[in-house]
Amino acid sequence: MTSLQMEPSGINEMVILKAAGLKRVFGRGQAAVTALTDVHLEIPAGSMVALKGRSGSGKTTLLNMLSALDEPTEGQVFFRGCEMTKMSGKDRSAWRRKDIGLVFQSFGLIPLMNAYENVEFGLRIAGTPVKGNKEAAEHALEQVGMKERMRHRPGELSGGEQQRVAIARAIAHKPVLLIADEPTAELDTRMGLQVMRVFRELVRRSGMTVVMTTHDPGIMELVDHVIALEDGKIVSRTTIE
Ligand SMILES: Nc1ncnc2c1ncn2[C@@H]1O[C@H](COP(=O)(O)OP(=O)(O)OP(=O)(O)O)[C@@H](O)[C@H]1O
Ligand SMILES: [Mg+2]
Repeated sequence: MTSLQMEPSGINEMVILKAAGLKRVFGRGQAAVTALTDVHLEIPAGSMVALKGRSGSGKTTLLNMLSALDEPTEGQVFFRGCEMTKMSGKDRSAWRRKDIGLVFQSFGLIPLMNAYENVEFGLRIAGTPVKGNKEAAEHALEQVGMKERMRHRPGELSGGEQQRVAIARAIAHKPVLLIADEPTAELDTRMGLQVMRVFRELVRRSGMTVVMTTHDPGIMELVDHVIALEDGKIVSRTTIE
């Protein structure tokens, strides 16, 4: 798996993620739903890309393919030239834990752990050296304005606060690629902008790449590229000046 250990070089020109001819059909026969068809895309390393489209247009389905959480019915996904769709489930999980930060539409926090423990647990899963985990977890929580409330469990936090904890967990191990499903959906404008600033700073400092979904036109102005989906197909690609 040497290609997975490569360091990014020429960060801005390199394609970190590529999808070729993706199709995803759920169910079979009469009940079959085609959630994605004929999706081709290339994500430049060190860029921020937003996927937009109506509810049901296939955004989450596409993110699940790009993070190898789900397998396409047809087509391939490449990460730094390495075909993820050919890798074993075990290798894919190892890759995901180390290199990817995931923010789920439903947050996915562990209810019995407080905010700090949720973030720290994420670091342990990523296999970062335990020394320094406390600082990394606290720093990530501070970046999203949740350090003061880090001893609270998800059930004691508002939707937006839980979302911010989920973001802290996704960025604490400094992933190469952040895949975030509606990361600002529960946040007010000010907090949404704060989170986008944190992402942009990680892009600038460590060359992280962000692929996210959003419905918010204000957020779309803050990324580099917007890809629009309609009925499971890419219908436009826009570069933001
Ligand atoms: N596991 C599944 N089984 C059957 N159909 C599914 C499944 N997951 C998604 N779909 C269908 O695939 C289509 C795309 O769903 P997806 O969740 O990707 O949409 P989305 O763009 O993320 O929508 P939203 O903005 O509401 O989150 C929808 O019609 C959905 O009902
Ligand atoms: Mg979705």
